[in-house]
Amino acid sequence: MFTKILLPIDFSEHSHRCLEKILELKKHGCRIGEVVLLHVIDDRIVKFTEEMFEDTIDDAYVAQSCQQDAQKKLDELQKVLNRHRITTSTMIKLGFPFSTILKVAEEIQPSIIIMGHCGHNLAEELLLGSVAEKVARKAKVSVLLVR
Ligand SMILES: Nc1ncnc2c1ncn2[C@@H]1O[C@H](COP(=O)(O)OP(=O)(O)O)[C@@H](O)[C@H]1O
Ligand SMILES: [Mg+2]
Repeated sequence: MFTKILLPIDFSEHSHRCLEKILELKKHGCRIGEVVLLHVIDDRIVKFTEEMFEDTIDDAYVAQSCQQDAQKKLDELQKVLNRHRITTSTMIKLGFPFSTILKVAEEIQPSIIIMGHCGHNLAEELLLGSVAEKVARKAKVSVLLVR
């Protein structure tokens, strides 16, 4: 039984596979209390984009449009889990992905964190992405890295 699963999502194919893993666990009889879907909007990308377009868009616009886009995508994923009668909630945070994931884990105290072993920047020779590696190394709860 997992009372609460923290599911960090970067909307890559790898993070979507984590959803399938949760459905698979449920299908095999694992009881799942709640899944918290978390997306972290990378602060560095927002700042970079704001600087690139500083003359044409105002500062809050980039973060706001990333937030709206992420919420839409999280809503879709949430629906998939809800169709399988899994209770969900969503969170969107602005910050550095790995430290924000760790901070949220401290706050909500999940039974487990389930995340992809890599994300968007898959380099064949690397075993783990940097966010996955840091969270797996530093989290105080168990971490399942989905391949
Ligand atoms: N910004 C993010 N918000 C939420 N989860 C993330 C974020 N970035 C990465 N993750 C999680 O970490 C996993 C591994 O990604 P990452 O370590 O960034 O690999 P890569 O370096 O290949 O992009 C993803 O599958 C996802 O579960
Ligand atoms: Mg990444």
